[in-house]
Amino acid sequence: MKGVILAGGTGSRLKPLTKFLNKHLLPVGPYPMIYWPILKLRDAGIHEILIITNQHHLSSFIELLGLGEELNVKIQYKIQINEGGGIADALMSAKDFINEDKFVVILGDNIFEDSLTPYIQSFQQQDAGARVLLKEVNDPARYGVPRLDKTNNKIISIIEKPKFPPSSYCVTGIYLYDQNVFQFIEAIKPSNRNELEITDVNNIYINNNQLQYDILKGWWIDAGTHESLYKANQCVYKKIKEDTK
Ligand code: DAU
Repeated sequence: MKGVILAGGTGSRLKPLTKFLNKHLLPVGPYPMIYWPILKLRDAGIHEILIITNQHHLSSFIELLGLGEELNVKIQYKIQINEGGGIADALMSAKDFINEDKFVVILGDNIFEDSLTPYIQSFQQQDAGARVLLKEVNDPARYGVPRLDKTNNKIISIIEKPKFPPSSYCVTGIYLYDQNVFQFIEAIKPSNRNELEITDVNNIYINNNQLQYDILKGWWIDAGTHESLYKANQCVYKKIKEDTK
C-alpha cells in the first residue's frame, strides 16, 4: 500500500510562524512536524510516500527529506497548483501516484499516538469504499463532525465545522480510500470558503453505503493552531519520556 501526506494549505491560523515557513516544517518535539506522519506510515509498513505541497515550499521539503533515505522510506513530491484550494483539491494531485486500489492519506498537521497497523488491516479486509478514523474531542465545531448511528456502526452524515455539532466526535485527518476517491473529487463543487472539501467526498462514500469507521484509542491533535501546536509538543515529549523509561 502507498501513503499520501498533504502538506499544502496556507497555515493561516499559525501566523506569523507560517509567514515564510511551511506549517509542516515547524517543530513538534525533536522533529519537524512532517516527520510524524512519515514515521506513522513507515511503522505500519508503508514505505512509498507522496508529499503534496505548494510550489514555493517544495525546495524546503526536498532539502529536509530528499528522497527519504534517512528515514528509510521512498518519497516523491507533487505540487498543489491551486494553493489553499482545499484538501480534496490537494489529494487530486495524487492520482498518478496511486496504482493500487487502496491507499492511506494523512493530513500533515495531524499528530497522534495510535499505530496505523490495525486500521490498515481492517481496511484491507473491507470489500471496497473508504474508512475514516474518529476521535472524541472537546471542541467538535472546529472539525468535520459525524452524525453517528453507533448501534449499527454507521456514519449517517458528516458536517464540516458545524455550529451545532451532531456528536462529540471529529473525523480526523487520517483517511483510507479506494481509487474511486478521484472520481468523487471530480464530482464535487467548491464550498462557501471556496475549497474542495474532503467532507463532501466522504459524504459521497456515505451515500453509496461505503464509508466505515474506527475510533482512535490514543491522543490525537490537529496541530493547526498555536495552542494545539503547543499541546502536540507536550504530548510528543511525554510519549518520548514514557518510551525511554
Ligand atoms: O484535522 C482534521 C480536520 O482537518 C477534519 O476534521 C476536517 O474535516 C478537515 O476539513 C480538516 O480541517 P482543517 O480546517 O483543520 O483543515 P486545514 O485547512 O487546516 O488543512 C489540514 C491539512 O490539509 C493541512 O495541514 C495541509 C493540508 N491542505 C489543506 C488545504 C486547505 C493542503 O494540502 N491543501 C489545502 O488546500
